[in-house]
Amino acid sequence: MTRLIIDTDPGVDDAIAIAIAALHPGTDLLAVTTVFGNVGLEKTTRNALRILELCGRSDVPVAAGAAMPLVHPQARRDSSAHGDDGLSGHADVLPPTSREPVAGGAVALMASLLEQADEPVTIAPIGPLTNIAALLAAYPHLKPKIERLVIMGGALEGGNVSARAEFNVWSDPEAARRVLVADDVPSVLVPMDLTYRCAVDTEWMERLAASGRVGEALCALTPEYVRHYTGALGWPGMVVHDAVAIVEAITPGTLVTESLPLDVECSFGPSRGAVIADRRRQAQIDDTVPLDVRGRVNVAVDTDIDRLRALLLH
Ligand code: BDR
Ligand code: CA
Repeated sequence: MTRLIIDTDPGVDDAIAIAIAALHPGTDLLAVTTVFGNVGLEKTTRNALRILELCGRSDVPVAAGAAMPLVHPQARRDSSAHGDDGLSGHADVLPPTSREPVAGGAVALMASLLEQADEPVTIAPIGPLTNIAALLAAYPHLKPKIERLVIMGGALEGGNVSARAEFNVWSDPEAARRVLVADDVPSVLVPMDLTYRCAVDTEWMERLAASGRVGEALCALTPEYVRHYTGALGWPGMVVHDAVAIVEAITPGTLVTESLPLDVECSFGPSRGAVIADRRRQAQIDDTVPLDVRGRVNVAVDTDIDRLRALLLH
């Protein structure tokens, strides 16, 4: 049984990711914590509550976290892929809820769940890393209680929000640097290079819609999101970035990883928010200039894509 906390900014692909974990029999979803990102915090929190309601999981506590990046609040920007309400204008497809987020906030909830846990907990951050950076800074003694972080973020080759940066890392590079570079919690980074390759096609969408009430509602969120990828971007299907990371979190080993030294660009140049991964051979690194980082991060570089798409529909 995987004990899991999802830290998220729903988001259409976040919605699919949360539903996968909420309905997975081998997963004990301890909490969903929210962060600004695709849209502002109030909307991401409301969306998280409604997605859990859809899944019949109003037992899962939701807590709101950071509304702004750690160091540079002015740099915040909504994603262009998820519409004004974060769910492509279809938030009302989800059942309303009178449930409120728990008092105390995301970091306090994560800390108390870790504190109480008698077995390590997996945390899956699928939005900007602000809450996770704050958690690790405020409660360093709880790091051993974290089994691993399975993070959707970063791009090894080109970005989506800028030429070099992926949205989640770009949204708070200082937080991402703190989590990926300065901290020593075991992590799997699931970059967009891989999530793009796992795009799902129309047949997959039809199977999701036919899977029942939840699948049908999730599908109803997606027409504009699908068009975002298949239209001007010319992608062959819908990219469900966060769901790929969640499948790895609940089915460890689904993704093939490579252990790489990496850093995050935090300057205000054109590469702000870029993940710099050193894929040179060790001999070449030894001979030249290494990245000045403490450790390595397991970066997801490959998977059996058909199996992954089937797991997304479990
Ligand atoms: C990431 O950014 C968001 O728009 C998605 O939800 C995903 O977490 C992809 O770059
Ligand atoms: Ca997200």
